Amino acid sequence: MTLQEEITRRRTFAVIAHPDAGKTTLTEKLLLFGGAIHVAGAVKSNKIKKGATSDFMEIERQRGISVATSVMGFEYEGCKINILDTPGHEDFAEDTYRTLTAVDSVIIVIDGAKGVEAQTRKLMEVCRMRSTPVIVFVNKLDRPSKEPFDLLDEVEKELHIRVRPLAFPISNGPTFKGVYNLYEKHLSLFTSDEKLTADASTVEISDLNSAELDARVGKQYADQLRSDVELVEGVYDPFDREAYLRGELAPVFFGSAVNNFGVRELLECFIRIAPSPRPAPTQTRMVEPSEPRMTGFVFKIHANMDPNHRDRIAFLKICSGIFERNKNYLHVRSGKQLKFSSPTAFMAEKKSVIDVAYPGDIVGLHDTGNFKIGDTFTEGEKLKFTGIPSFAPEQFRYIENADPMKFKQLAKGIDQLMDEGVAQLFTSSLNGRKIIGTVGALQFEVIQYRLEHEYNASCRWEPISIYKACWIESDNAEQLADFKRRKHTNMAVDKHGRDVFLADTSYALALAQENFKDIRFHFTSEF
Ligand code: G4P
Repeated sequence: MTLQEEITRRRTFAVIAHPDAGKTTLTEKLLLFGGAIHVAGAVKSNKIKKGATSDFMEIERQRGISVATSVMGFEYEGCKINILDTPGHEDFAEDTYRTLTAVDSVIIVIDGAKGVEAQTRKLMEVCRMRSTPVIVFVNKLDRPSKEPFDLLDEVEKELHIRVRPLAFPISNGPTFKGVYNLYEKHLSLFTSDEKLTADASTVEISDLNSAELDARVGKQYADQLRSDVELVEGVYDPFDREAYLRGELAPVFFGSAVNNFGVRELLECFIRIAPSPRPAPTQTRMVEPSEPRMTGFVFKIHANMDPNHRDRIAFLKICSGIFERNKNYLHVRSGKQLKFSSPTAFMAEKKSVIDVAYPGDIVGLHDTGNFKIGDTFTEGEKLKFTGIPSFAPEQFRYIENADPMKFKQLAKGIDQLMDEGVAQLFTSSLNGRKIIGTVGALQFEVIQYRLEHEYNASCRWEPISIYKACWIESDNAEQLADFKRRKHTNMAVDKHGRDVFLADTSYALALAQENFKDIRFHFTSEF
């Protein structure tokens, strides 16, 4: 197969959802279809259950499983599909954001009874920032759900994206009859069978007025469907794939993941419309996947679970060319040539050493502590991929050394954990103290636990009251200097030495933005 053919047949995506909407269940069903797993439950345990926030064993267990399920690759009808897993717990949202930089599209799962929830909204913001194409799957229709038109309106309004249903449900909850596929014009009758890997009962109904429909679902529901479909065709424009690819229009499907209902149709449509690897932006130019020279970037680093081995796995997304085992590549940040003797690929439950990988694929690289998130690899060109931002943290604590004899271990541990993207480190301009900023509170426990177990260092947290940290810059040097002087007690630098303003309250932040018009306040590290 040529490089172009390999690119064209690849689909790299993530399933995202508010916790409990059914992300894990849907992922699992997709894998079952792909023949990548054979039993239900293989992916199931990959999340921190609610209420387990202080259970360190649970965190460790989750880390172990999430290495295995970080990337789940499988073949389906000639396509090579890579599903990138994202952590379920919202305290790990930043991990999810970074994973979204490595996908070419996403499937958003929404609980039909709950509609759009907080985490869905946040994740969609990240998709919008990157114009990532999204498909919406409304799940749990076997339970009493909101009305489909209300759900469609809600998605449109809350997620700020135009929608186009490609299937439409017939009732829901106890009277759920099935889903009518609007583009293939067939009816899938609802059956509840978790083990099936094909939708059981599908009937061709190209003419909705046929008596077959009444016979299958009863006159009342048949009439309802007829008027719903008429409304859909009247209200929504025909599906426009280009608008979907631009991230402006989301096709919507309905189903029930746990009953394996509507999943095949989702997958069939997905492989047809979802994009293959797309051009990736760097600081200097766009990189086309079909360029012959290999380029890629690290979007995730995973520490080894074994405290005796401080090795890590860096996840490299291939952006162009062919990645080859034992070939020298330039690690752009250090300027070093590196080659990898055992790069791994992930096929659902299995990890195996690979010889080559293509754009869209994720390769696991063995790392002894040299790589950072965002690192670029090339065949010599000094590129730096962009769009892998850190987000303004929202929780802060001073970190103090709790064991004076272990100062070095602590410094090293903090350094490596920050490279992994677990949290962000700031140094206060006021007193030089180190401040750790995270997206969720759970991270502090994770850091403390890992410092002890992996680095033999111990730390202590001390409270600090900060509302938000944001990066600042300005072309007006005088105003910037004035700002830094006045806000001296609230200034810090990040690990790259950039200025960071630590606002005490939302009011203080708003006031600063109001009073210092020439200063730009950034809420992600990339600007
Ligand atoms: P998440 O990864 O998005 O957090 O959600 P997950 O797939 O774990 O699903 C959350 C719960 O919703 C699970 O129940 C799952 O069985 C259920 N679920 C998923 N899809 C459907 C569906 O189509 N219909 C119905 N009725 N339920 C669905 P749980 O009780 O939390 O877990 P379990 O004990 O069933 O494993």
